[in-house]
Amino acid sequence: MSDLPNRLVGAIDSDRHWGQLMRMGAIGSVEQTGVDRPCLSPGDREARRLLIGWAEAAGATVSVDGAGNLWLRHEGTQPDAAAVLTGSHMDTQPRGGRFDGIWGVMAGLEVLSALHASNLRTARPIEVVAWTNEEGARFTPGCMGSMAWSGDTPLDRFASVRDEAGISFGDALAEQLALESDLPRRALGGRPHCYVEAHIEQGPLLEAAGQQIGVVTAIQGSRWFTVTLDGASAHAGTAPVSMRRDAVQDAVRAITALNHLTHDPDDILRFTVGRIVVSPNSSNSVAGRVTFTIDLRHPDAATLTARGDAIADTVRAAVTSTAATVTEVFHAMPIDFDATVIDAVEQAAVADGASYRRMPSGAFHDAQFVAGICPSGMLFVPCRDGISHNVAEYASPEHLATGTRVLARTLLALANG
Ligand code: HGY
Ligand code: MN
Ligand code: MN
Repeated sequence: MSDLPNRLVGAIDSDRHWGQLMRMGAIGSVEQTGVDRPCLSPGDREARRLLIGWAEAAGATVSVDGAGNLWLRHEGTQPDAAAVLTGSHMDTQPRGGRFDGIWGVMAGLEVLSALHASNLRTARPIEVVAWTNEEGARFTPGCMGSMAWSGDTPLDRFASVRDEAGISFGDALAEQLALESDLPRRALGGRPHCYVEAHIEQGPLLEAAGQQIGVVTAIQGSRWFTVTLDGASAHAGTAPVSMRRDAVQDAVRAITALNHLTHDPDDILRFTVGRIVVSPNSSNSVAGRVTFTIDLRHPDAATLTARGDAIADTVRAAVTSTAATVTEVFHAMPIDFDATVIDAVEQAAVADGASYRRMPSGAFHDAQFVAGICPSGMLFVPCRDGISHNVAEYASPEHLATGTRVLARTLLALANG
């Protein structure tokens, strides 16, 4: 076994990897360095076809499941053994970066390419998965593909979710599956041996410490809510303020009250209102309806539960003239990763001579749901200034090459262990 890691790592081609990643970044590119590639969009389809071609050239077999999750399999000498799984997501934020999600998929592909090039077969099969709709930017919530695959949420629960153009997730998924009907269909679900997801850190800690690898130990919890305030639109000039049912003014009251509810002097609790939709959204009409989103996060389940459960009452107590509807649309409680997978990532970093730290994840990932099915873990690489969900997101070829080597070592150890 001692020579195998070096043989595999020696076959990793960091120029090929960087070139493929930049080619992916050109699909849906915005503002030179950013990407806008919503899930189940023509850009997503183009990126998937590109990945499929590269995977087949690397000797992998490709399949797709009923949630649109895309699977790239490198067969093992024990084909019936539970596979070692890696991967991430290909969809992006509207003004996202070229690395969030897609790097984890491409790092997995690079490992398959290196296995193929070095004619290496691991005992267990190794599979790379591209999860459907991790970001939740086009269709809310995120992680639909991994939630459906893990059984956390039935797939049909998402079918009626609509994007801003009124297209339903069910219709978009059906269209995607029809256009990929040439791919073998695979059953939704499974029991892999373990899962390791590679991802950029999306925070500043590794770069600030001058470290190359994050050995991820846990993911904090995330809860998403949608708040709709229904008032009455009215004429901005003739309607007396005293008679108005102004949804914007009530949204201001509600968000101010939520700021007080979620204020944390230790700056650990994260409260974000990222989207506000006003109707009729006209400067001389009093707003009849406002819908806004809430993203609430904390590493402690009890805190996240207590603050999240208080949101609806806080909104209702704050509004003065509108009817408030508060709906929870995403519920991902904190998870701890599996010690054996964490150790495997750490030992791979040591074997590669990479500097590293153990750390939790502030961002959620598909691994949060896979962890409920099999032993799971993640590895991070630094990203410049910790910037993500922003067109300026950047990770260096050197850091990505280190991350890919550490991923390769980890997968090899888990697949032959
Ligand atoms: O929002 C998140 O934490 C993830 O980056 N989608
Ligand atoms: Mn991501
Ligand atoms: Mn993201």
